[in-house]
This record gives sequence, structure tokens and C-alpha cells, in this order.
Amino acid sequence: MSVEVSKIVQGVEPSATLAMSAKAKELKAQGETVYNLSVGEPDFNTPDHICDAAVAAMKAGHTRYTVASGLPELKQAICDDYRKRTGFEYKPTQCVVSNGAKHSLHNAFFGSLNPGDEVILPAPYWVSYAELIKLSGAKPVIVQTTEADGFKLTPDAFLAAITPKTRMLLLCNPSNPTGACYSRDELAALAKIVVEKDLVVVADEIYDHLVYGGNGFTSFPTLMDGLQDRTILINGVSKTYAMTGWRIGWLLAPEPFAKKIGGLQSQETSNPCSISQYAAIAALQGDQGCVEAMKVEFEKRRNYVTQRIADIPGISAPPMGGAFYAFINISAHLGRKYGGVQVETSKDWCLELLQQKKVATVMGSAFGCEGYARASFAASMETLEIAYDRIAEFLA
Ligand SMILES: Cc1ncc(COP(=O)(O)O)c(C=O)c1O
Repeated sequence: MSVEVSKIVQGVEPSATLAMSAKAKELKAQGETVYNLSVGEPDFNTPDHICDAAVAAMKAGHTRYTVASGLPELKQAICDDYRKRTGFEYKPTQCVVSNGAKHSLHNAFFGSLNPGDEVILPAPYWVSYAELIKLSGAKPVIVQTTEADGFKLTPDAFLAAITPKTRMLLLCNPSNPTGACYSRDELAALAKIVVEKDLVVVADEIYDHLVYGGNGFTSFPTLMDGLQDRTILINGVSKTYAMTGWRIGWLLAPEPFAKKIGGLQSQETSNPCSISQYAAIAALQGDQGCVEAMKVEFEKRRNYVTQRIADIPGISAPPMGGAFYAFINISAHLGRKYGGVQVETSKDWCLELLQQKKVATVMGSAFGCEGYARASFAASMETLEIAYDRIAEFLA
């Protein structure tokens, strides 16, 4: 018998953001200058003191297996950092450190969902959620949010989507791909329904440090008593400390669940990279000036991009409250020709923009929202200036 792909894996789509990024790299390899706004990672280098800690860890011989669920010192650093920022306590035994937040999300879904369970997934959503939920055998139930609502899930839409099979709400705050950032009151209204309907929440807060325009950030489990018991909190060092390649993320959850997930991970992958774990300790315990400096730079770019989008006729984007993406409404510019090529969908539009103007973005359809394109502003000001000049030329 030849090797065949399982039914579950057949249903999994590859990541569209990584596919667009690969296409951009392909053009680059052919000698083209590409202005890449498709990526979801800071363009800064990992700060020196974090890299130094990794070198020191290697030299000190920390190159062996660690506890599968992560070093106790790192778990402590994660809990200390959370307490410092929110005043809220988690114990290290409630923490599982994994190979990036994406792995933590997989553990959260796979470890808590059963076949047939429904997960409410507000759209536009980050590309991996729907696929990871499907991998666990559960069903993503997509709830479309609107630009008029700032792409935030409203209590009415949430209530309307709940069925007897609903088990979980996925909440990404601040949002990839829209930059939406929920206020405390907006979150509290959703939390009330979560409790009333006896649901679980996966709260992905990986962009929690990147909040702009004086918006405060509220971490979901801190909203009311008892919420901690029904929340799986996801975070990591990738976005906050420009450490996407180091692959360190974590979940914080009720202790019995975390214990079981640690056991699962001991069978699946063992520990995340020991050296990266020491680097993550340095990131969390070191001077946080680097985080503030990167945030200041992102906010400058976000303000610039907001103005450029406002100045281009026929496109718009909701206010970018957090993260580093503009989610641009291009619907008025679909159904027409660009350089003789008919463009109907956001996918056509992004491919033609890349082909004709060498600017890489990601089609809204990949995020469950046709008529939009996601453009990262985790790129230098120079790249952003040229990219938006070209987008304006393309649309004109
Ligand atoms: C919303 C969101 N969650 C999780 C992740 C995964 O992060 P990591 O690099 O730690 O796996 C990303 C990465 O793009 C993301 O945008």
C-alpha cells in the first residue's frame, strides 16, 4: 500500500501568509526588489542582551533536555511578568512552555476539544486558528464581524452563534489581522456571556504589548472572578521581543489541564529548545526598554500608514488599536482591470499587486474576509513609503 494522507490532514490548508511570503522571496531570488508587507514578524533583531544570554546558556552547558513542559525558572519568570503587568496570580504549575505560541494553541485545542465540539471563531481570523481547530476534530463556527463594528465580536452576534454544541470562544486581542483592540467594557460583555453559557475561552494575547493611541490593554482572565478556571491564555516572546525564530510560546491554564498538556508534550515534542528557554528568561527578566523602543517605532509606522490609507481614494481600514497590521478595504477596487488583467477577488488583487508593483500583502479571503488585504507595518519606514506609493499607483 502506498503512503496516503489521513482524512484529518487532508482537510488542513497550508498557511496563506507563509505562502505569500514564500512567493515574495521567490521573486527576490530572481533579482527583483520586493516590498514585503506580508510578514507577521517584527523586522528588528532580537535585542543583544537576550542573544548574549543564549550564548552564555550554551557555554554553561544548558544544551540538554529540560523538563518537557519548560524550565521551572522560565515558568516562574512568565508568572512574575504577568503578575507585574496585571496584578493577577498564576502559579508555575499552571504554565506549559512550547515551541512557539502556535504550538501552545495546538495544545490548547487538541487538549480540550472533542470531535463535534463547536468553537466560535470571530472573522476576520488569523489563518491558523481554523486549521488547528479542525485538526483537533472540532468545528470552527465562523462569526463574521464588520468594519463598522471595528471588526470586534458583539454580544448579540456571539449569543446568536451559540448552540448546544458550543464549547469554546476564540478571542484574539489585539487582533491579527485587523488590529482591533477590545476595551475593558467590550471584553466584560463577552465574558458575562461566556460565564452564563458555561463556555471555555482561548485568549490569544500574543500582541498584548503592542497597543497604540493610548488604548489600555485588558487581559481576559482578569475581568471577573472565576474566569481563570475557564480560560486558556496564550502568549509568547515572538512578537514582544522580536524572537519569532527562537520558538518559545506558552499557555496558562487551570493546573490539572496544564499538567495533562505537559504530559502530552512529553510524548509529542519533549521540551522546547533549552537555549531559547534561557533566552526567554533573559527577555522577561531583563530591561524592558527594548520593548518600549520597538513599540514607539511601530506606533510611528502605524500613524504613517493610517494617514497613507486615508489619502488613497476608495480604500479604508479600521483604526489599528494594536498588533502591526492594516486590514485594508479594497472592495471598491475589485471587478476591474489592472494593467490589462481582470481582478475579481482579494487573492487576484494581491497577486497582481505583487506581480506588477512588487508589493507583497495577504488576501483577506485567507482570513475569512473577502474584499480586504492585510498589509503588515512591521517593515522599515523606507519600505512603507515605497510600498504605499506603489499601492497608490496600482489603484490609480
Ligand atoms: C495571533 C497570533 N497568535 C499566535 C501566533 C504564533 O506565534 P509564534 O511565533 O509564537 O508561534 C501568531 C503569529 O503570527 C499570531 O499572529
